[in-house]
Amino acid sequence: MQGKRILLIVGGGIAAYKACELVRLIRKAGASVRCVLTEGGAQFVTPMTLAALSEQPVHTSLWDLKDEAEMGHIQLSREADLVVVCPATADLLSKMATGAADDLASTLLLATDKKVLACPAMNVRMWLHAATQRNIERLRGDGVTVLEPDEGDMACGEYGPGRLPEPERILEAISAALGGSGALSGRHVVVTAGPTHEPIDPVRVLANRSSGKQGFAIAEALAGIGARVTLIAGPVALATPAGVDRVDVETAAQMQDALQTSLPADAAVMVAAVADWRVEASPHKLKKQDGGLSGLRFVENPDLLAELGASPERPRLLIGFAAETEAVVDHARAKLDRKGADWIVANDVSGDVMGGDDNCVHLVTRNGTESWDHMSKAAVARQLAARIAEALRD
Ligand code: CTP
Repeated sequence: MQGKRILLIVGGGIAAYKACELVRLIRKAGASVRCVLTEGGAQFVTPMTLAALSEQPVHTSLWDLKDEAEMGHIQLSREADLVVVCPATADLLSKMATGAADDLASTLLLATDKKVLACPAMNVRMWLHAATQRNIERLRGDGVTVLEPDEGDMACGEYGPGRLPEPERILEAISAALGGSGALSGRHVVVTAGPTHEPIDPVRVLANRSSGKQGFAIAEALAGIGARVTLIAGPVALATPAGVDRVDVETAAQMQDALQTSLPADAAVMVAAVADWRVEASPHKLKKQDGGLSGLRFVENPDLLAELGASPERPRLLIGFAAETEAVVDHARAKLDRKGADWIVANDVSGDVMGGDDNCVHLVTRNGTESWDHMSKAAVARQLAARIAEALRD
């Protein structure tokens, strides 16, 4: 981070106090920081505090003529190497998603041509609200890197996701966004995600309920700590996480080809719910009078994980997922052996995991089993990414 310039936009939330520590850490890492406070942000930390910590003037108003004379808002937004919004409140995220520009912070965010890292922090209900999630999805689609909030006790007395991560983790994300050395920099990881769709005829497909959320969260978490990530995605309506190379596929056969093309890799995380069978598809639309679907012939699909496990191009670390509804760990261990994987992340799908935001997992390795508490898919992704970094360290 040596010599890099960060523009830090501090929104109005209780987590703003952590921005002060973040300024200190960024400077300690060798970068400089210019701070912009929103009107709300200034209710929580003072310009004086941030000016003293950054040793730079702090900007608060679009209408400060002195600022405009010395440094126009366009220039301020462009001279940085990275724009960091921390904490990013629900209001600020909403402005960013819609392109509103009614104060200095939102104007800078619209005017910048630099990478933007948003670190949301807010009450759990506000975070989970459909409007906020829609804004986050849109921002990701626009190329903004979003650091998932932590889960835990909140200042408002509630519990859940919405807490600002500790400044050390934000610093790691800043370093990765600047192309610096994250724990996985220089490593290539392939992730498969989502369902596959197997055509029955030109208008119908055999599908499953996989949402792709867990695979996408893993791709994002890996990129967040510096990995080069190839995300091979079945048909899902999710935005590509920032910094991730995405290859869209429909069928298991296409996923197999994309996987082959993506190698070599240091690790592969096979999260996709690949259809076990494909159909000998009809070239024309099946009609009811043809006897319906009763004549369908099913053909077994290749097992991509097992194939990779036995391949000379096997990545050093091969991780499978296993969605189970009973005897979760036993079934996962059997899959570990059968498919030649190093780890299986066993996913208990007996509840409402499919399509939801939470997951209940066991990490089954050659050395034993760890059960992770019920946590968000984003938290599972972060924990798994950290474990992958540990395993690839030497
Ligand atoms: N997998 C794969 N290719 C397939 C089927 C599964 O790569 N054709 C991978 C999945 O991505 C996952 C793991 O294998 O990492 C386990 O998938 P799962 O569907 O649980 O395993 P199956 O072998 O299909 O076992 P089951 O009989 O339980 O469905």
